[in-house]
Amino acid sequence: MTLRAASEAAVPDRTVAPAVAPRVPVHVGVIMDGNGRWATSRKLPRVEGHRRGVEALRRCVRAAREIGIRFLTIYSFSSENWSRPPGEVTELMRLLKLFLRHDLAELNSAHVRVKVIGERQGLAPDIRALLDDAEALTCGNGGLTLVVAFNYGSRQEIAAAVSRIAADVAAGRLKPQDVDVEMISQRLETAGIPDPDLIVRTSGEQRLSNFLLWQAAYSEFVFLPIYWPDFDKAALLSAIDEYARRDRRFGGVTARPGP
Ligand code: FPP
Repeated sequence: MTLRAASEAAVPDRTVAPAVAPRVPVHVGVIMDGNGRWATSRKLPRVEGHRRGVEALRRCVRAAREIGIRFLTIYSFSSENWSRPPGEVTELMRLLKLFLRHDLAELNSAHVRVKVIGERQGLAPDIRALLDDAEALTCGNGGLTLVVAFNYGSRQEIAAAVSRIAADVAAGRLKPQDVDVEMISQRLETAGIPDPDLIVRTSGEQRLSNFLLWQAAYSEFVFLPIYWPDFDKAALLSAIDEYARRDRRFGGVTARPGP
């Protein structure tokens, strides 16, 4: 497979269908699913699947850098994940702290910029501090942007954006007719980040689960039949290979010659 480095391509204008589908997605979103089933199928506790999931996450970030992906968004803890058993929630919090403490220096020296999306209020102070520090340390980096969706829910994100717009309208700072798609995009936490070209979900489940609902309007979806702890560079390349064969029309007509 020949892949064109995304770094060769400018971040595309999402409102215009590209003449030729880019071969390497600029922005990949990943729903890291199947940790629990991976563990259960091996008669291990579910949290062991999450621990192995962190190793898969490291492989994923390394592979994304090597392939030339510019933005990688990982769904690491959803707004709804608080409903899991307390011990599992505690372990997921511990793993996030471990990942940030252990990997941040290496990510920084690899020029990775870390950006966090999700509700930070209500998180433990030490976790908030780690998330803030990771962003502050890496904000000047020009390599891969690793977007960590933590305590993130897309409906909540959209509701918060709409609420801020409504407040501006009520205060007379905005007129209702000023509200458009671009304004809503700019009020989301992902403002300034191009929409995901490709969303990959492992474990065989085929749903978005409150991940980047607005931003995924024209994303391509690839559902991999492997559990997240088994994810590696070959899996990412297979998803990109499938993406590269898709005909992205953005609601228009085909950009490719017929068969
Ligand atoms: C879904 O698997 C995975 C999660 C809810 C959490 C993802 C977390 C990691 C990959 C490791 C932790 C990394 C960080 C940075 C916190 P599942 O438990 O829903 O699997 P199942 O559907 O088989 O039960």
